Amino acid sequence: MSDDAEDAAAGDAFDRVVARVRERVLPDEAERAEMERVAGEVVERAEAAVADRDVEADVVRVGSTARGTWLSGDRDLDVFVRFPPDLDRADLERYGLEVGHAVLPDGHEEYAEHPYVKGVVDGFDVDLVPCYRLDDATDIRSAVDRTPFHTRYLAEQLDDDLAADVVVAKAFLKGIGAYGSDLRTRGFSGYLTELLVLEYGGFRPLVAAAADEWHPPVRFDPEGHGDASFDDPLVVVDPTDPERNVAAVCSAAAVGRLLHYARDLLAEPREELFEPGSRAPEPLDADAVRAVVADRGTHPVAVRFTTPDIVEDQLYPQLDRSLAGLRDELDRRGFEPVRADRFAQAPDAVDDGEPVAALLVECAVAERPAVERHEGPPVGVREHAEGFYDEYVDDPDVYGPFLDGDRYVVERPREVRTPAKLATTELFDCSLGPHVEASLEDGYDVLAGDEIAALATPFGRELAAYFDPSP
Ligand code: UTP
Ligand code: MN
Repeated sequence: MSDDAEDAAAGDAFDRVVARVRERVLPDEAERAEMERVAGEVVERAEAAVADRDVEADVVRVGSTARGTWLSGDRDLDVFVRFPPDLDRADLERYGLEVGHAVLPDGHEEYAEHPYVKGVVDGFDVDLVPCYRLDDATDIRSAVDRTPFHTRYLAEQLDDDLAADVVVAKAFLKGIGAYGSDLRTRGFSGYLTELLVLEYGGFRPLVAAAADEWHPPVRFDPEGHGDASFDDPLVVVDPTDPERNVAAVCSAAAVGRLLHYARDLLAEPREELFEPGSRAPEPLDADAVRAVVADRGTHPVAVRFTTPDIVEDQLYPQLDRSLAGLRDELDRRGFEPVRADRFAQAPDAVDDGEPVAALLVECAVAERPAVERHEGPPVGVREHAEGFYDEYVDDPDVYGPFLDGDRYVVERPREVRTPAKLATTELFDCSLGPHVEASLEDGYDVLAGDEIAALATPFGRELAAYFDPSP
């Protein structure tokens, strides 16, 4: 085939795949009608609850279900009650909760920027969130105040075709593990995905550009706000707020993942890339973990402890920080970390007993010598040099002092000869997240080498992914 003919055939295959994905992920008429019915009812109830009170407010729907960009099967309804900006915060919170409970009598309170009420209506998860009604998104007092501006902006820009492409783009990002602005995923948020599809006028051109033209850092400024500079791998200046990068939480790895799988999708279009879970490998059992560790000839060490009881957006940054702390310390002590990962069971994933978390660092070095080199000052600096010499000359535990070039040197006993010893005695010298540190203070296990096979329960799937890594 000529290049052109090949391109045309690939184009057809791409379009065929996208058409099938669309079929699966776009909500059909019945689903849309049901969503509208329930949303209408919630908005009406909220307006009635506001009218019953001595306060002015309007009710708006936000999020993907207000914009026709939700993935079929999602049943989240975000409804905001917007209060006048001169209402003080305590009153906003009080009225917000009153309205929330009136609309969702079986709901419960959660806390984001303000407390709000969450509940279920006809099988839909409803968030009823109070915010301020402002003229300009730059005046916002909290992140939720910005949300209605997003919905208004996108409602003006998106038509049905673009909205359908947004849904396909979300399915793709989900399929490759890059969708979600939570701090575990650090990927693409819904709003970011919508802005990128808008920027390119569709899913296909977005994928083509990411595959070919993106050389991170990549910057977009849809409304030409100019100036503000952001130090992130992907920058999309918020059309409704020049000070904000919509992609601020998107990690370099998430951006890289989009580039990689965009190329993959164009080279070999297939639905699998849009299916979450198609990446999830079969879990490894303990024997398989032992076998792969032996095969790699590495020296893993793991710290196993109780998952701190905090929300995921706090937990994962703390696990990451703690893992980096442990890894850096192992590196500093000469154990040459090869790779590292962290795993955590969520509290609600466990029926009895405590949820488990683990920090795993695979090292290249299993054991360091019994002695370590310790350099003293140059002999020429008399006072310091003599101090060093006198300190060690009668010490039966050291070799030396001797001279190496112009310096005194001793070889003294090494305190930490193995990764396991470090994890046992030096863990609290590592930089740790505060709640992780508190949990470790209540106790932890150290597993070394083969012993990490014990992590196969409950982390068999995570270990399978770890030992068969992919982009
Ligand atoms: P959602 O997380 O529900 O996103 O936040 P979404 O756009 O509805 O996408 P999906 O389909 O559910 O995944 C609702 C709104 O809150 C604002 C955005 O305006 C978003 O549309 N938001 C949310 C942000 O500005 N930043 C965030 O990180 C999350
Ligand atoms: Mn949503």
